[in-house]
Amino acid sequence: MKRSKLWGFAAAVLVVAVAGYFLTLKVKQEKQAEWKWSLPPGFPQPRVPADNPMSEAKFQLGRHLFFDTRLSGNGTMGCGSCHLQKLAFTDGRPVAVGSTGDITARGSMSIVNCAYYPTLTWANPSQVTLEIQAAVPMFVENLAVELGITDNNKAEVLARFQNDADYQQRFEDAFPGEAQPINFTNIIKAISTFERGVISGNSRYDQAMAGKLKLTDAEERGRKLFFSEQAQCSTCHSGFNFSDQTVSAGTTWTETPFHNTGLYNVDGKGAYPDSNPGVIAVLSQDATNKGKFRVPSLRNIALTAPYMHDGSVASLEEALKNYAAHGRNIVSGPDKGDGRKNPFKDARLNKIKLSKAEQEDVIAFLGALTDETLLTDPRFADPFQTASR
Ligand code: HEC
Ligand code: HEC
Repeated sequence: MKRSKLWGFAAAVLVVAVAGYFLTLKVKQEKQAEWKWSLPPGFPQPRVPADNPMSEAKFQLGRHLFFDTRLSGNGTMGCGSCHLQKLAFTDGRPVAVGSTGDITARGSMSIVNCAYYPTLTWANPSQVTLEIQAAVPMFVENLAVELGITDNNKAEVLARFQNDADYQQRFEDAFPGEAQPINFTNIIKAISTFERGVISGNSRYDQAMAGKLKLTDAEERGRKLFFSEQAQCSTCHSGFNFSDQTVSAGTTWTETPFHNTGLYNVDGKGAYPDSNPGVIAVLSQDATNKGKFRVPSLRNIALTAPYMHDGSVASLEEALKNYAAHGRNIVSGPDKGDGRKNPFKDARLNKIKLSKAEQEDVIAFLGALTDETLLTDPRFADPFQTASR
């Protein structure tokens, strides 16, 4: 080969190598950027933090981490142990039980459509993003241990993922170009990305609204009642996600109301039990925050018994009975007290007028809010088939 030809060849190799490098970089970036929301009719685009954009690689990594029991100090529990897909991501218990056997004060909530809440959990105005929320079950131990990751076992927990070839690849794909992508910040980002993507709006009610089927007579009577002045339900359980706390990409002004629904009145002056005082635990200056909780969505509600923040309402029948009575009167035991007379109870409760038959119709309507496809959707499924506790 002549000298000039050799140079030409070397130059060509260089061009190919450089092009190849940029191409892989582009493919990696595309893996990162490629994300398409497929939203049910009427659902707005969720709000996504600027420093944690959606990507398919991150969503899939997050799904694995969410269900992985290695994400706990003692390796027995993952997020998915308390948030089971078949129960619309709740656990069927009145209150949750953590990885070391600690009993928590509140019931596991569904993570379905949690992308749309401006504040997360039952009554905490400071948990404003999924990223902030996810750290709580992982690290918090002053209330009750959930996943029990501590300073003593942090390195060990991380090493479980760092030494796993599948996770090495997944973290590299989800966080391209990072020297040490397997860290807790990225674990939280990936889990939050998965949660943001768990969106459900394909219930019989949604299908009926889209004109694809007709609700039964009882469901239809219940629907009319639910949205009526007479039942008041939709004044709090409002909008596409049945909650008056809703935020989305286009939201400019977010309201974060909390309400007291008259479940307790342990001192006759409006207090709830010490284990669950309501928003007052966080915003303690204002006495009217006693017993106030966030309005949970009612989507898939037929699957998520028992109900309310502490699982103290066993069935939808009982929930409707309490609403029709304008609160709950507990006549004996440590929580004795007339919730109907709770001074901080939301005034709308007193306007509710529902006969027994009408309560049954509302329950029939609530049953039509179950999205069967959510429960078996492989995109949201546990890749490890973790046994529930
Ligand atoms: C021991 C059971 C348990 C485990 C493990 C657990 N959770 Fe939860 N989850 C709960 C309980 C209980 C609540 C309600 C907490 C409260 O109100 O204080 C909750 C609430 C939530 C919420 C709020 C939903 C809403 O509508 O506001 C999200 C999101 C969530 N969990 C995500 C996670 C993630 C992510 C993990 C893993 C890092 C996880 N959970 C692990 C029991 C658990
Ligand atoms: C004043 C606002 C308000 C009104 C009106 C209202 N709710 Fe609620 N609802 C709430 C709040 C707040 C909670 C959570 C309360 C708690 O846990 O202490 C809740 C909880 C529930 C739950 C349990 C949810 C769960 O995940 O455990 C059901 C079921 C329910 N409401 C149904 C209804 C129905 C049906 C109506 C109409 C008859 C109605 N609600 C009217 C605010 C309201």
